[in-house]
Amino acid sequence: MMKVVAEDPGLFYQHYPRVAAVVTVNSEGRKNALPIAWHCSISFKPTIYGIAVSPKRFSYNMILQSKKFAINFLPYEKIELIAALGGCSGGFTDKFTEFNLAEDEALKLDVPILKDAYAAYECAVIDSRVFGDHAWIAGEVKAVHVAEELLQDNGVLSLDLVRPALYLGGDTYCSTDQDTVKHLDRDQAGRGK
Ligand SMILES: Cc1cc2nc3c(=O)[nH]c(=O)nc-3n(C[C@H](O)[C@H](O)[C@H](O)COP(=O)(O)O)c2cc1C
Repeated sequence: MMKVVAEDPGLFYQHYPRVAAVVTVNSEGRKNALPIAWHCSISFKPTIYGIAVSPKRFSYNMILQSKKFAINFLPYEKIELIAALGGCSGGFTDKFTEFNLAEDEALKLDVPILKDAYAAYECAVIDSRVFGDHAWIAGEVKAVHVAEELLQDNGVLSLDLVRPALYLGGDTYCSTDQDTVKHLDRDQAGRGK
């Protein structure tokens, strides 16, 4: 395999696909939603989740002002909604009205939980720091919503039942394939060699 080696990251899509999630926020009664591809778990105990949000996003100040957000995980069937939410700004559009976003009740924080999501985390902001053109916002997970019927006995998502929305970059989406799922015991893997 021939590889190009360069300092310039180009379009910076080499670490994709990533789960296309939707961050929701409620700041002083005003709600907003923005899709993000840059997000990650940071700590298990306490449970902390991080999101990368550009200070240019209308949601940015809403998250910092309200000190909370939710991150919602949607199925592949909702990629058009995800793309549409990312194609407009809460500064001009009331996305909850425009896209008819139905909500589930939050448990701990005043954050919108999307009914369309198969899972969501309610997060209280504990830290925020700007790195380059994005801010890394860390939130302690105060409640987890999950459609339990979509999980296998070991807590892993059943891809027979739900296909997560994945983002490949360049406005391109994809999902997962159940045929590729394989369970490998990390202590046993490679031992037969
Ligand atoms: C699939 C997808 C992934 C995105 N990922 C991010 C991201 O990780 N961070 C970010 O700041 N913006 C990201 N965006 C861009 C914002 O979602 C977009 O600018 C949105 O309109 C901002 O909404 P707001 O201005 O109402 O906050 C993404 C957009 C899409 C469609």
